[in-house]
Amino acid sequence: MTHSLRIPDLTIPTRPETGTGWSAGVGPGDAGDPAISDVDVIQVNGAARLAGTVHVVGAKNSALKLMAAALLAPGRSVITNVPRITDIAIMGEVLRRLGCDVRFDVDDPVDPMVGVGGVPRSRSVTIGVPEQPGVEADYDLVRRLRASICVLGPLLARRGYVRVAHPGGDAIGSRGLDMHIAGLTRMGADISGEHGFVIAAAPHGLHGAEITLDFPSVGATENLIMAAVLADGTTVIDNAAREPEIVDICTMLIRMGALIEGEGTSTITVVGVPRLQPVRHATVGDRIVAGTWAFGAAMTRGDVTVTGLDPTYLEIALDKVVAAGGLVETRANAFRVRMDDRPRAVDVVTLPYPGFATDLLPMAIGLAALSEGASLITENIFDGRFMFANEMMRLGADIKTDGHHAVVRGRERLSGAPVRATDIRAGAGLIIAGLCADGVTEVSHVHHVDRGYPDFVADLRALGIEVERATAPEEPELTI
Ligand code: EPU
Repeated sequence: MTHSLRIPDLTIPTRPETGTGWSAGVGPGDAGDPAISDVDVIQVNGAARLAGTVHVVGAKNSALKLMAAALLAPGRSVITNVPRITDIAIMGEVLRRLGCDVRFDVDDPVDPMVGVGGVPRSRSVTIGVPEQPGVEADYDLVRRLRASICVLGPLLARRGYVRVAHPGGDAIGSRGLDMHIAGLTRMGADISGEHGFVIAAAPHGLHGAEITLDFPSVGATENLIMAAVLADGTTVIDNAAREPEIVDICTMLIRMGALIEGEGTSTITVVGVPRLQPVRHATVGDRIVAGTWAFGAAMTRGDVTVTGLDPTYLEIALDKVVAAGGLVETRANAFRVRMDDRPRAVDVVTLPYPGFATDLLPMAIGLAALSEGASLITENIFDGRFMFANEMMRLGADIKTDGHHAVVRGRERLSGAPVRATDIRAGAGLIIAGLCADGVTEVSHVHHVDRGYPDFVADLRALGIEVERATAPEEPELTI
């Protein structure tokens, strides 16, 4: 079955959605709904300083997988603290096309930033899962949301057959699926590729297996856990990813009745059970959004308090801010970063958690570009992540890349220019770099930022920044 349906809107409505239709509840009255357009731009002025308090809601990279995990139990699961971003809206549509009833509502508790003039940045999502969910995720959605691949494990476990479009690579790298496939194959699945689809079949069900991942892949660990919870017998995943988002999904699955041990360590053991129950679960806070503000405070020599996240999830990132000269205070579910003087250069190496997150690489480069001295930045996760360095160079950053290393020589100030967001994190990094550049910086293609940051503009304003968002006129088509 293929769908040629055009997705009419990519926003999660601010009001409770009553129908199951994709665009229900979205209308002109929904003030604050970001208009998604390829040419949307965010404009900031330089010499700005981030100061104030910002609250982070649930992590995109957890909520997406929690929504997929709901597929494992027929009935209604409720996930709260879900960020109101495009990627979540797309995942909602993926689940609807699998036959689920998906409803976004006012979050409980309500996002505290609403009280300071923002629109709600989090939602709760209720997912009604049928006894027999569909078995196909097609390319028109998977190409928009690579993470749709996370329905592979749960659907294979529930239905014994699944077809998911191969997501292909993207702007940050080639992004293989070999570890997902090798792991599921060890659990008894027969996996093939055809017409751009990954097709997995396990007509007699999945069985437990000993799996050692070549690399602690986040996505492969999640898919394998979701397949293993309903498999026959015990699965041991070695060299598993240890991210807080992995712990979050395991916590939800355990509350659904799954038997899992070792989450948060490199060895995860799952004993399969015949059936799981629906659940209500709150998404863990977004450490990448929180880290963006931590680096933003350091880059702009500001003073920012971030609430909504256990700061231990950002330990190495905050250590780097301290090494650069920042003052960091941590509390139970909050932290504060202050930078009074020009930052000092620090070297950064991205690694799987608990290492420095690759998603904060644009922020690390931004900080290095403004620091006193030279920094060596090494990217170990994605082969295309330095693509964004070209845009930073348009802002005057002195960056030389060689393979997966970049040498960044800091400058006192950058120089405002029009630049283009190439991915979610690059977009956020460029906007913050623009705050440290002389003159005006206009970042285009900010629909990428909407994919990961709920209302970035409102957060910037809450931190004292004057910022404009507009839709730039479309460029005329050139013909010969
Ligand atoms: N890889 C393979 N084969 C596999 C799986 C992964 O070669 O079977 C490679 C990838 O190509 C990549 C590396 O291993 O080079 C890491 O991939 P991983 O599976 O760990 O990442 P992911 O699950 O695809 C998630 C996040 C990313 C984040 C990475 C690393 C989601 C939806 N995405 O991706 O987030 O950068 O983990 O922490 O959870 C973002 O939010 O902007 C983002 C890109």
